[in-house]
Amino acid sequence: MSSSDTASVSTLSRRDWLKFAGIGATTLGASAFVSSCSQQTATADTADAMPDMDAIAIMSSNENPFGPSPKAVEAMKGELSNIYRYTYPSIVALTEQIAKRENVSPDQILITNGSQPILGHFSLWANSKGLKILTSELTYEGVPRVAEAFGAEVDYSPVKADLGFDLETIGAKVKPGTCVYICNPNNPTGKTIDPAQLDAFVDSVSSQVPVFIDEAYLDIADDYEKQVMTKYVRMGRPVVVARTFSKIYGMAGQRIGYALMPADMIAEFYEFQLMSNVNKLGLVAASASLDDTAHFEDMRVKIKLGREKLIAMARDIGRPIAEDPQGSFIYMDTGMNAGEFSARMMEKGVRVVGSRWSERPEWSRICVGLPHEIEKCHAAAKEILTSI
Ligand SMILES: Cc1ncc(COP(=O)(O)O)c(C=O)c1O
Repeated sequence: MSSSDTASVSTLSRRDWLKFAGIGATTLGASAFVSSCSQQTATADTADAMPDMDAIAIMSSNENPFGPSPKAVEAMKGELSNIYRYTYPSIVALTEQIAKRENVSPDQILITNGSQPILGHFSLWANSKGLKILTSELTYEGVPRVAEAFGAEVDYSPVKADLGFDLETIGAKVKPGTCVYICNPNNPTGKTIDPAQLDAFVDSVSSQVPVFIDEAYLDIADDYEKQVMTKYVRMGRPVVVARTFSKIYGMAGQRIGYALMPADMIAEFYEFQLMSNVNKLGLVAASASLDDTAHFEDMRVKIKLGREKLIAMARDIGRPIAEDPQGSFIYMDTGMNAGEFSARMMEKGVRVVGSRWSERPEWSRICVGLPHEIEKCHAAAKEILTSI
């Protein structure tokens, strides 16, 4: 998961680095490993054990390689001398800006340190209410795995033949005592759900039980506006829509995310006393990013172009992918153990995800890099995969 990429890498040996890259590690194991890494500080003596970072194309983390809006950078610079102040006015300003934009009440907005705390708190919340989480196999682990770690029951429905969410199967399991996690577009497949089907599902299910919709990548998708589910929050349904500034806004390292959700559920999240504080520079950068519509549109074009190049790469090598990906990544059947594929790609200076999703041990998630990184990835994957 991308939070796993925030670790201080300078302390890692090459073997640790491979583990850190997700090669052969289970997600939860990797998260625990990384969270311990992130507590560490850099030391010079291990530097020579490190791969040459400049030479590595990082295409495993679902970051935006084109970076943040220059206006966000300017906003942070302008705020630097104010960091002795607490964040309250900046939180209020960003909350009001989002409320206006989304046409919801400010008390229906929760701003957090990246969107991961929203996913984690939803898991805790569901667990505290004794709710079973209904979701799909082959999805982002932020809700289901955290919930399981706290002892909650999670029901994973199989994906359809095209690797998309099977809403009919999930919907048939909805009953009192359950709640639903949907990721649209899904990570790792990049699949979106047909807007009409999604709308009918959320309408029906949220009139019975809580629904969490993870829209981390939605604004990268072609027809994203049709898929936004905010109207159910406006209607007062028990719906959580999670968003992040880590993806299209290129601010993964600055850690800002938000949820549109019922005010009373936000109050219940706070009762866990675990809500991590947001940072002032991230808040002003997020605010400036929302205003920079030109950068937003530019990122949509650039990321889509990168995604198309990755699709063309898979076609050229003759490897199947989850069709019509709509996020910033493709999910490709490598035809070999994905952990081994990832290790061999790393030897060629390209970091891609290994066997992170045990449901598909031969599939690898590869995210958009800069044009020269995609070329390097293409050449490396071709060399490895056409020789198997
Ligand atoms: C689907 C999905 N949701 C949420 C997150 C959490 O991201 P962040 O905490 O950076 O907002 C990620 C990270 O990769 C993701 O892929």
